[in-house]
Amino acid sequence: MSAKQKNSVPLRWRKEVERILITDEQLVRRVKTLAREIEKDFRGREMVVISLLSGTVMFLADLIRHLNLPLRLDFIGVSSYGSGTASGELVFTKELRLDVRGRDVLLVDDILDTGKTLSRVLPKIRALEPRRLKICVLLDKPARRVEKIRADYVGFAIPDFFVVGYGLDFAERYRNLPFVGVLHPHVYQ
Ligand code: IMP
Ligand code: MG
Repeated sequence: MSAKQKNSVPLRWRKEVERILITDEQLVRRVKTLAREIEKDFRGREMVVISLLSGTVMFLADLIRHLNLPLRLDFIGVSSYGSGTASGELVFTKELRLDVRGRDVLLVDDILDTGKTLSRVLPKIRALEPRRLKICVLLDKPARRVEKIRADYVGFAIPDFFVVGYGLDFAERYRNLPFVGVLHPHVYQ
């Protein structure tokens, strides 16, 4: 298969997805190296991985299978009202269940955009007094930041495009795409 064919959007999605920004092969490679970075920092200590629903599904599954250290997994459900591309009012749909006091915590999210979501979630976790709290995101859109939030581990920094796939959605769709793609503006405008 030529490089051009590999990067072209599958026929089924061509009407909605303009182009592939990150291929499945790039995702596989980067997620592995991210896991190595995290492993090194956590030095074999047991960690609690807290993942934000639902955009992290694919990233989380791929990341934790490459983490060779003991971990426990929990989820926080947070969703913004409305189904648009802007992050609106936040509601918590699932609270944390594991006790994280004195633990090493890795918070995993799909994408760091304005930073509003993490600026609501972080104080909640900090209030539980973990020993250490690190943030890992698959994607970072620094150009859109309004809150002073920085991730410790970033898979890919990307320009200000609305992206879908590999867990990321638009109005709950496209999460199943195996690549990260740029949505045609006509889909969300
Ligand atoms: P923030 O609160 O603006 O940082 O946005 C974080 C949340 O907005 C992410 O967890 C995503 O659910 C969503 N989001 C932001 N940008 C995108 C995008 O380009 N595609 C899909 N979801 C996005
Ligand atoms: Mg989302």
